[in-house]
Amino acid sequence: MEKGDVKPLLIAIDGPAGAGKTTVSRMLADRLGFLYVDTGALYRGVAFEVASRGIDPEDEEALSALAADIDLKFGHTEKGVRLFSGGKDISNDIRTPEITMLASAVSAKPVVREALLGVQKQLGAKKAAVFEGRDMGTVVFPDADVKFFLIADIEARARRRFLEYKDAGSQSFEDVLEDMKTRDDNDSSRAIAPLQPADDAVIIDSTKLPPASVVDQMVAVVLLKQGA
Ligand code: DC
Repeated sequence: MEKGDVKPLLIAIDGPAGAGKTTVSRMLADRLGFLYVDTGALYRGVAFEVASRGIDPEDEEALSALAADIDLKFGHTEKGVRLFSGGKDISNDIRTPEITMLASAVSAKPVVREALLGVQKQLGAKKAAVFEGRDMGTVVFPDADVKFFLIADIEARARRRFLEYKDAGSQSFEDVLEDMKTRDDNDSSRAIAPLQPADDAVIIDSTKLPPASVVDQMVAVVLLKQGA
């Protein structure tokens, strides 16, 4: 299979934190020559602005004003795809443990989800894209051509996250595991767009699979889908 051989499809990849979504979504987009969109970065961007502007995340009115004012955009630079807020590159600032937990909290707010829905739909208008998130297949793109839901044991997910952030040295494995349980709970129990597989999603358990094997399975499903 060559890049460009695959028709412009919209591919949705959902699942809990640490299931390997980012790695495989990037690899799959690269194999297919598709755009890769990390929608979690948008929620993190909102959380970053909430923190920088000193907004109380429980203050619905202030969140609503922020949602109307915020200007989040992805841009290509020599460092790869970066997230900009009001023209400032915030890609590194959104990866701290504090912003991670705040993103989970603000993502439960309907006003935030509504504001980001339009941004995401616009990005998906051209298809030929792999969207990674929590509600891609259920809410944002219910008509996506192919849907995947990636899962893995919580211990495996926490270990991956711990190794990823180990160099920053700010969290022990136990802290990462605890944060992950809290986030799983927040993300799956929220009233709006809770984390759950779409009825027509292909579920892949990545606990014991290397990313390349997960991507091979995904490519097989995509090719089957377009009758190649
Ligand atoms: O994928 P991530 O860890 O960068 O996402 C950060 C938070 O954003 C996560 O706790 C859940 C939320 N999120 C969401 O609610 N819907 C999405 N489509 C993507 C992320």
